[in-house]
Amino acid sequence: MIKEIKNICCLGAGYVGGPTMSVIADKCPAIDVNVVDINPNRIEKWNNPNLSDLPIFEPGLYEILKKCLNRNLFFSSDIKEKIANADMVFISVNSPTKLKGIGAGMACDIKWIELSARQIAKYSRGNTIVVEKSTVPVGTAEIIKKILKESQEEDYKNNIDQKTFSILSNPEFLSEGSAINDLCNPDRILIGGDNEESIKALENIYLNWIEEKKILRTNLWSSELSKLTANAFLAQRISSINSIGAICELSGANINEVSKAIGMDSRLGSKFLQSGPGFGGSCFPKDILNLIYIAKFYGLNEVASYWSTVIELNNWHKKRISQIIIQKLFGTISGKKIAILGFAFKANTNDTRESPAINICKDLIEEGSKLFIYDPQVSALQIEKDLDFKQIKNKSSEQSGWIFANSIEEASTNSDAIVVLTEWEEFKNLNWENLFKIMRKPSWIFDTRNISNTTRAKELGFNIWKVGNNNII
Ligand code: UDX
Ligand code: ADP
Repeated sequence: MIKEIKNICCLGAGYVGGPTMSVIADKCPAIDVNVVDINPNRIEKWNNPNLSDLPIFEPGLYEILKKCLNRNLFFSSDIKEKIANADMVFISVNSPTKLKGIGAGMACDIKWIELSARQIAKYSRGNTIVVEKSTVPVGTAEIIKKILKESQEEDYKNNIDQKTFSILSNPEFLSEGSAINDLCNPDRILIGGDNEESIKALENIYLNWIEEKKILRTNLWSSELSKLTANAFLAQRISSINSIGAICELSGANINEVSKAIGMDSRLGSKFLQSGPGFGGSCFPKDILNLIYIAKFYGLNEVASYWSTVIELNNWHKKRISQIIIQKLFGTISGKKIAILGFAFKANTNDTRESPAINICKDLIEEGSKLFIYDPQVSALQIEKDLDFKQIKNKSSEQSGWIFANSIEEASTNSDAIVVLTEWEEFKNLNWENLFKIMRKPSWIFDTRNISNTTRAKELGFNIWKVGNNNII
């Protein structure tokens, strides 16, 4: 019999769990959605009554929370009770790349997923459908299955009420910054699994707002591998376009023109052809590294080295940008003030995980410059954590390092250069007249996102460098 889902529990109130559960609560008012997290500070922020200081910035999220929070959407730290009452438990916890031990720097650290499985094994009651939402290495569902099965056997031995589980893989394809739209209008919903009734129960949730033809069923392994593959292909496009951008800069071609020309080929499509400072985010680097690890595990060394080049190109490209900045500023940036516009890995998010800004800023600080960093959504505390470097206390000292700026103007005053690292809307039409007045001469603009309208800047006398461009206009 197909189970009617009345109560959902989601483990993990982060960039995936928060928006995904908010949209489910909005689209399915008859279901109670409980999001739990081991981090009580995060839960406290979600529950802030006036919805200020939410733990994540995501356009459209505020409006949904206003409607659903404490109606049928609840954030809580009571993991035990919420799992026990749930018909379906989603796992949306962190799955970063391992820092230590076997597979360090490559394999995924699934300790949080393992802990989630153990919590579910311990606290669930009756029949529970477990849905794997986090991006995970291929084979993770099998590990979850094993943990749950062993707990069932233990319960049986101890004459404890029998629990049953079925595991589904339902990877998330949302992209930060457009997560709400991606969740409301997905290209497809992928459900991997082998239990027909559980698949149907999950499918019924999505049918509240998604057409049936967009729901795709596969086996568990295909579902897990499809997520890694989608991200690897997207990241590969970015490394490809950035590699061509480097040729453009030297040859006189223009990357925007090349992107447009190839993107009009319907076989290629126009998306993900924007040259930038390199890809970042919590998924792309991690998922490619996962793929490399799996390929090596199966002895497919050529496959592993093929995907390794996507990461290598990305790392080379970020380094290339910091070197260009140094070289253009007469080969030395020691004691120079540089304004950094944008620290998030992309616009419309406060997420800085794997942001290219981290490496580029570290390189510039290492070379002796003083950075004034401005991002409309990233906090000073987060920048400090990412750079692993405390802010300079005395703004007028000659010391190299970084200082948090509250505006474009504050960051740019007396600076030698502006470096645009994130494509925030407010960086597209900068007030060149004002900036030219407040900056030191010669004044430079380095646009790593190719977004700024620089016609006026050129007339005023700015020196301009744009990624993938030779003839700057
Ligand atoms: C990605 C996938 O798009 C999403 O489907 C998956 O679920 C999670 O990983 P996300 O990391 O949020 O989403 O952002 P995305 O928009 O894919 O951008 C990733 C990186 O590529 C960013 O650093 C972005 O700036 C960069 N990028 C993207 C480019 O440099 N050029 C482009 O044309 C597109
Ligand atoms: P993602 O981008 O995948 O959502 P985040 O780091 O933003 O990653 O969010 C993952 C969240 O999962 C974190 O807030 C973390 O505290 C939480 N978490 C990790 N392990 C567990 C667990 N076993 N139970 C509940 N929450 C967990």
